[in-house]
Amino acid sequence: MTERTCVVYGASELVVGPANDDEDEGPLETIENGAFAAVGDEVVAVGTTDEIVREYPPENADVAVDADGNAVVPGFVDPHTHAVFAGDRSDEFEAKLRGKSYQEILEDGGGILRTVRATREASDETLLENLLGHLDAMLARGTTTVEVKSGYGLDTETELRLLEAIDRADEAHPVDLVPTFLGAHAVPEGESTDDYVDRVVDDQLPAVESQGIAEFCDVFCEEGVFDVEQSRRVLEAGLEAGLTPKVHAEEFTRLGGAELAADLAAASADHLLHATDEDVEAMRAADVVPVLLPGTAFGLGADYADARAFLEAGWPVAVATDFNPNCHSRSMGFVQTLSCVEMGMTPAEALRASTSAAARALDRDDGTGTLGVGAPADAVVLEAPSYAHIAYRFDTPAVDTVLKGGEVVR
Ligand code: NIG
Ligand code: FE
Repeated sequence: MTERTCVVYGASELVVGPANDDEDEGPLETIENGAFAAVGDEVVAVGTTDEIVREYPPENADVAVDADGNAVVPGFVDPHTHAVFAGDRSDEFEAKLRGKSYQEILEDGGGILRTVRATREASDETLLENLLGHLDAMLARGTTTVEVKSGYGLDTETELRLLEAIDRADEAHPVDLVPTFLGAHAVPEGESTDDYVDRVVDDQLPAVESQGIAEFCDVFCEEGVFDVEQSRRVLEAGLEAGLTPKVHAEEFTRLGGAELAADLAAASADHLLHATDEDVEAMRAADVVPVLLPGTAFGLGADYADARAFLEAGWPVAVATDFNPNCHSRSMGFVQTLSCVEMGMTPAEALRASTSAAARALDRDDGTGTLGVGAPADAVVLEAPSYAHIAYRFDTPAVDTVLKGGEVVR
């Protein structure tokens, strides 16, 4: 059987990926009047439209997409979401508008704990259906790879059910899912934190390991949730179970999660609103990718992370939606808008943060988040002449056609 062939041509500009690792050279390599060809799932050639259509005539390709003077960019990679849950917390949005804090809501048994109650009660089918609906919304906004965390079960049975839903959605949906175990997301009601950490380490992690779905282990390292030592215990046990660490770090307070991430050579440390210069240095030295989540700050009316501190240290940041019931956004385009307007990033930096840098936060080194030769043929044809329109337009996504593995999926 011959493999499917695909050619995407006529792009006003084709964004291939990072220009190089030298920030001074500008963060993106683009080709004017660009095109790419793919065989099977993989990009096999990138160049100008003239070059590519000569070698790969569109009339002979199984899939031919004329970008018709619009820009083509790599599919977005969303490296931090909590997209599998049940229930509704829109009333908490109103409570927050009236001045109640995120932590006060959690202390009163709301927030994460409320989603845990609704999630435990939901059937497997409901959880899967909810997740697939969110993936549809993400794909329509140009996301082709998304990390999804468990963490609304907080008991072995439900945590495994959530990871199972992620696995089934990965099978059923064109978007690629990257599963993360987040048993240490909150402390269940009526339980002491140390006792719960014991349960995560002694009960949940061995079960997660034998289930064999999760790839990463994450922890909410925060005042009033898991302190640095408790977080370390969870992540070290995760490492023993074969899971790469990730950390929710320095979101509301500077507790030391970023240093912990550096110490354990985590794939990423995420949030980082209160990260210090020392944290930036420690993370850079240990190759920990900073994942910034401006949608969360936007929703909470909080200050934003200092993206420029990382960028000026020569450390490309990643950005993510953090989609969860407290941050109801499934749009990497809107994240790019916030990255520019609120965190002082350029549209090119924001796009890199949403593609190749985001793939690094997920340990993907197969070219995901780029359209270089050998990369997965995941691409977005914009309905706009340049990639700047992604961040520039914040009412509707500037997305026309989405390709996943060389097939048109949207
Ligand atoms: O990354 N901070 C912890 N976890 C999520 C919020 C989850 C929730 O509120 O349901 C976050 O923002
Ligand atoms: Fe999160």
